[in-house]
Amino acid sequence: MLRRDLVLTAGALALASMGASSGAAAQETVKIGLILPMTGQQASTGKQVDAAVKLYVAQHGTTVAGKKIEVILKDDTSVPDVAKRLAQELVVNDKVAVLAGMGLTPIALAVAPIATQAKVPEIVMVAGTSTITEASPFVVRTSFTLAQSSVPMAEWAFKNGIKKVVTLVSDYGPGIDAEKSFSEKFKADGGTIVENLRVPLRGPDFSPVLQKVADAKPDALFVFVPSGAGAQFVKQFVERGLDKSGVKLIATGDVIDDDLLNGMGDVVIGVINAHNYSTYHQSPTNKAYVEAFKKANNGMRPNFLSVSGYDGMHLIYEALKKTNGSTDGEKLVAAMKGMAWESPRGPISIDPETRDIVQNIYIRKVEKVDGELYNVEFATIPNVKDPVKAAKKK
Ligand code: DHB
Repeated sequence: MLRRDLVLTAGALALASMGASSGAAAQETVKIGLILPMTGQQASTGKQVDAAVKLYVAQHGTTVAGKKIEVILKDDTSVPDVAKRLAQELVVNDKVAVLAGMGLTPIALAVAPIATQAKVPEIVMVAGTSTITEASPFVVRTSFTLAQSSVPMAEWAFKNGIKKVVTLVSDYGPGIDAEKSFSEKFKADGGTIVENLRVPLRGPDFSPVLQKVADAKPDALFVFVPSGAGAQFVKQFVERGLDKSGVKLIATGDVIDDDLLNGMGDVVIGVINAHNYSTYHQSPTNKAYVEAFKKANNGMRPNFLSVSGYDGMHLIYEALKKTNGSTDGEKLVAAMKGMAWESPRGPISIDPETRDIVQNIYIRKVEKVDGELYNVEFATIPNVKDPVKAAKKK
């Protein structure tokens, strides 16, 4: 622990002196340290984000504001301590101007003190716990918060005749945010939360909790599990016979992931869920994105995390243009604040006060279109800010 802190302090000093002597013009290569879970439980996340980053660079080139862009990809193996060490090495040895990726909340939080100390922007392309943007003034998020999708899901459920709900979430930051924000909104509207169930993030077994759901017989089960875990959940939901029990499945879109959807089978047809992106989003920007992504990746469907990665690269490129190529971390973050653009998911912006993403949330229904399963959007809640931070401000 002590040794690690010393290494970090030495690194920060080295960085500080580098910043003083190099100046913007002298640095010809801008390095982006991309830390992703390429192996381990969250490997599907790494695959999606990495593919999107590569696509963005292929489409937009490797020169920005006269500087050469170099992306250095590191595999954190889905482990926070590994991510922290990699971030330190990227900052101290590779002298990256930006850290990006962060495939899980504990990873984003482990890297935040390094971003602060080195004054390097940390672009969070995945992790969705509300508090992450408060962990460092250098964090800027292009993904989402769980409350952004859970609150509209609760509102839709109560308005559509669902009165009794059991919630089931992965037991860590984003799951707890999803549970709390869904339950608070649903109860405020007049609904009843029968039970709040949690499963471990690592190697979850859904059987015992699904038995509790079967016993409680709520109108609906609201679920959050992180990207990649939805298929196993749906499999066990069906094995327990819950699909035929009259308990409606409602969820955040993380569970009904576009990437896994076709593999889940027809049992998920009709499932209502709320999220920021669907592969099926009907816009020219998204059609072009999906086509290019599939072409570059053997037909793989882009999911919501790919879009966060793609938008994260846009944010970095455009911020560098605004600073005329300066990699000063404070200038880059200032340039990112308030930035607004059209993403494959729809219009988005970075809230200048919180550095968090503002985006549309869509209510979707799983449907079969031309032989494939898609999340088909049927209602839009525009420009949603993180409800957790909005509530704190009041
Ligand atoms: C987080 C990870 C995910 O894959 C996801 O879909 C939502 C949240 C997280 O760790 O914050």
